[in-house]
Amino acid sequence: DWTPGNIVEDSVARLRERIGERRVVLGLSGGVDSAVTAALLHRAIGDQLTCVFVDNGLLRLGEGEQVMATFARHMGVHVLYVDAEARFLEALAGVEDPEEKRRIIGNLFVEIFDEEAAKLEGVTFLAQGTIYPDVVESAGSAGGVGGKAHVIKSHHNVGGLPEQMKLELVEPLRELFKDEVRRVGLELGLPADMLYRHPFPGPGLGVRILGEVRKAYADRLRRADAIFIEELHAAGWYERTSQAFAVFLPVRSVGVTGDGRRYEHVIALRAVETVDFMTARWAELPYSFLDHVSRRIINEIDGISRVVYDISGKPPATIEWE
Ligand code: XMP
Repeated sequence: DWTPGNIVEDSVARLRERIGERRVVLGLSGGVDSAVTAALLHRAIGDQLTCVFVDNGLLRLGEGEQVMATFARHMGVHVLYVDAEARFLEALAGVEDPEEKRRIIGNLFVEIFDEEAAKLEGVTFLAQGTIYPDVVESAGSAGGVGGKAHVIKSHHNVGGLPEQMKLELVEPLRELFKDEVRRVGLELGLPADMLYRHPFPGPGLGVRILGEVRKAYADRLRRADAIFIEELHAAGWYERTSQAFAVFLPVRSVGVTGDGRRYEHVIALRAVETVDFMTARWAELPYSFLDHVSRRIINEIDGISRVVYDISGKPPATIEWE
């Protein structure tokens, strides 16, 4: 019968059988699926696993730190941390089109991951956090729009790796649904807050800063988002929303402070309730809660003079702003 314990035991046995003494590389993203894949492989083959974590500078506040704390320091997983913020910002400079930004971020991720993997000695396998819905999705449609299917397909080719380094794919979560993946993660000792986090898009803050991505914008947005999420947790609303985040609007709006008028940027807050992410309703957060979050963001973050709340449903509005 299906228990997380049985699944772990069975997967560990199968992974050991297939991998033997050989080595595996895995890209950690901060998301649930790659995290559980890493934990499962680590249980099965220990230090034959090397993870690569590419910090693109477009992650949530403290996310890179949390991944390193959980995997490298706490669990003893071998993780290569790649600080690629400057490369991503440079590649994105002057680019405003959302789909172009997605393409650049996706391609650069694959390029950097491949560079790191190519430096590792004697790797035979590439592990991926493909779960059952991904398998069904990519069978049904060729690619998908800028989502996960794209990364999976790119990785299948493992473009930049030298010819002699053709990697075999290992996908231990291929038969599991999301809730099963989370339960397996708990069984493996991963922190619940990592497993039950709202989804975060692959391009990260790159599609939550409207138009051109700049470091100063990303830094402000990260802090605004962290305040919003912290307050959602404190108010008991985090679990009642399916996805919630801040968006950076590069328009200037006037603000009055003690020393005069300032023209500064705007933060939009988005919180939705949804089952399948295909349709969504905006969350009816209490006015007093929104008031508190707005005050904190304006008071604590320089360069933000106004906060607005998005009251658009999907359809017609998408969940993300880009
Ligand atoms: P939309 O904005 O299309 O979002 O209503 C639906 C869900 O998909 C996520 N999303 C993405 N995830 N890469 C991803 O990995 C992307 O380019 C991307 N765009 C949107 C979005 O966060 C929401 O959960």
